[in-house]
Amino acid sequence: MNHEYFMHRCIELAQKGRGLVGNNPLVGSVLVREGTVIAEGYYRGVGTGHAEVDMIKNCEQDILPTDGLYVNLEPCCHTGKTPPCTDAIITSGIKNVFIGMKDPDERVSGQGIAALRSAGIKVTGPVAGTLCERLNKGYISLRTKSRPYITLKRAQTREGAVANTDGTKLCITSDIQNKWSHTHLRSSHDAILIGVQTVEIDDPQLTIRNIDTNSEFQPLKIIFDPELRINRDAKLLDNRTIIITAKESEPIGETKVITVPLIDNHFDWNALWQYLTTDNRQPITSILVEGGSKTWEAFQSAGIVDEEVILIG
Ligand SMILES: NC(=O)c1ccc[n+]([C@@H]2O[C@H](COP(=O)([O-])OP(=O)(O)OC[C@H]3O[C@@H](n4cnc5c(N)ncnc54)[C@H](OP(=O)(O)O)[C@@H]3O)[C@@H](O)[C@H]2O)c1
Repeated sequence: MNHEYFMHRCIELAQKGRGLVGNNPLVGSVLVREGTVIAEGYYRGVGTGHAEVDMIKNCEQDILPTDGLYVNLEPCCHTGKTPPCTDAIITSGIKNVFIGMKDPDERVSGQGIAALRSAGIKVTGPVAGTLCERLNKGYISLRTKSRPYITLKRAQTREGAVANTDGTKLCITSDIQNKWSHTHLRSSHDAILIGVQTVEIDDPQLTIRNIDTNSEFQPLKIIFDPELRINRDAKLLDNRTIIITAKESEPIGETKVITVPLIDNHFDWNALWQYLTTDNRQPITSILVEGGSKTWEAFQSAGIVDEEVILIG
């Protein structure tokens, strides 16, 4: 049996929850009988059934002891907004469970696996562990570092330039590179972040566009703007944008404006994470920092960069 193949399907299903699950994990699940998927499910957001429960609910056939359940994250064993998934699996009669990774949440972390095993269920894993961890890099970062996963993305010319010196826009990347970064970077982060000077010079939209998937996911947009000097006609201002400023202000149209104190001219990271990962109605677990230089430097000098992507144009 090709366990990775079925785990890849779980990952595909899990991705449908991006933008809906808040600070919870992305999870997909399938039930396999004799090499064929007979039921699928995924986690669709806060308050809805978890992926395994969704899959069991969607299964139109009687479950057999020879069926195998695949799920990219260890099933939970605690009661949160919904009952434990381990109970639903045990009650369903499933006897074989394949998991992608252990849940880093201390309320689960191995105890979900132990609960299944003590009910006589065979648990195998990690299956495709690296891919499963990559899918939930934001959730893992939040649980283990109490901050979002940070990716820095920079485009530079062969000579190393990232911007024009006269304050005009410099286009560096090709259409193919742009398509790649929309498909693989913007689509895999909850939010994109830039400094206010980049808004001033480039007036970007910061959306996902021109890609070959039917996903409707669009990341949130975060602007660092301590003096609240953003151009009120900037293209990216809408109900998916959050301006982080040191000033007190009402929203700008549909755009949220959040006040975060400065420490030595930089936003207080702890206050920022408190807002972005918990207080915010749409909590954020991963951020793609697209620049410019001053903004990259702020993240680098704070030592909070998990990954860096450089596109040479
Ligand atoms: N090649 C690329 O990949 C790329 C990507 C993006 C942008 N760019 C280019 O980069 C240039 C702009 O870069 P830049 O370095 O001048 O400006 P920037 O990084 O876009 O914006 C810098 C400003 O953002 C605010 N800011 C950033 N980090 C902050 C923090 N931690 N705390 C508080 N405020 C913070 C400050 O605003 P105040 O000034 O109001 O204090 C700061 O001066 C543009 O030409 C743009 O085209 C290139």
